[in-house]
Amino acid sequence: MTEPKKKFLAALEGQSFDVPPIWMMRQAGRYLPEYRQVRKEAGSFLDLCYTPDFAVEVTLQPIRRYGFDASILFSDILVIPDALGQDVRFEEGIGPVLKPVTNPQELSALSKEGLLEHLAPVFETVRRLSKELPGETALIGFAGAPWTVATYMVGGRGSPDQAAAKLWAYRAPDEFQVLIDLLIEATGDYLLAQIEAGAEAIQLFDTWAGSLPPAHFERWCVEPVRQIRARLKEAAPHIPVIAFPKGAGPAYADYFKATGVSAVSLDTAIAPEWARDTVQPLGPVQGNLDPLLLVAGGEEMKTAAARILEALGDGPFIFNLGHGIVPQTPPEHVAELLDFIRNFR
Ligand code: CP3
Repeated sequence: MTEPKKKFLAALEGQSFDVPPIWMMRQAGRYLPEYRQVRKEAGSFLDLCYTPDFAVEVTLQPIRRYGFDASILFSDILVIPDALGQDVRFEEGIGPVLKPVTNPQELSALSKEGLLEHLAPVFETVRRLSKELPGETALIGFAGAPWTVATYMVGGRGSPDQAAAKLWAYRAPDEFQVLIDLLIEATGDYLLAQIEAGAEAIQLFDTWAGSLPPAHFERWCVEPVRQIRARLKEAAPHIPVIAFPKGAGPAYADYFKATGVSAVSLDTAIAPEWARDTVQPLGPVQGNLDPLLLVAGGEEMKTAAARILEALGDGPFIFNLGHGIVPQTPPEHVAELLDFIRNFR
């Protein structure tokens, strides 16, 4: 007998449901007291990512609490620069701090050599999760898209305008291309190893896609994701790939077609009716409740969730947020939202 298809994976193949599959970006994290406990034990954030016992535990925490349809590997998009040899730290109250890469010399110090060995604990985490997760829960692997990872590598930290990476890309595109090409290759290797270890779907996070003008968006966001998608399609044809080009606005539709991804994750600013008419005809969509509505909870949250369900619920659709859960989210609001979605029709 063949097992029934997991709901999340079936939605990515185009199936619709009365109650859509649900998961939330950053569903593991500081809003959960049990996460904060493990985080304290682990010491540094990278130690948490690279210690399978801890990483498996925090990945499973939101599944135990809420029974999401999909689980996302616990790691971070910045393990790639770390594995390439860049100095990466996470500082309390600041976030990621990297030693900036700003010229060809600094860039030539980075190397893919030993990348998969460095990231071996992540693959061990994936292997264990694929055994330990409940049978109906899909396992998502992920990476940052090259542009977003590059903004941190060049800027050295999160910035409101990504100016450092943009200026390098505008002033010396051939130099910047070398960095992007390195990230395309490293990310492809990394994701294929996650798939080999048991990841059943992949999400590519392009958090800063919205900051580029159209021609640069095409070169630095669309084209790298298209190449990664093509490589995965060749090597692992049945593994769906979701892309999250946050801030892409009206370009969401062309991006979906041009990259060849299986689904797109919509950000908070996209009107669900527009997505229904313009994006969903191209394939499954995921999204897009504002994470701050989840902090607020109550009627305002439910009204917004209802609008998303009304517009996109005929599918193919996966309920998610428009960006990651924030630390001040009351865990009971997540339960309240899930209850609302599961009883909506
Ligand atoms: O979604 C999940 O539950 C899986 C784990 C996950 C994390 N980061 C854990 C994390 C995923 C998928 C990410 C992706 C990520 N990381 C992105 C893309 C998506 C997005 O949110 O925009 C980006 C830009 C990063 C880089 C990053 N990591 C930043 C800017 C920060 C600091 C901000 C913050 O929330 O502290 C991190 C740290 C981080 N990554 C934390 C977690 C749970 C918090 C670290 C801690 O516990 O101290």
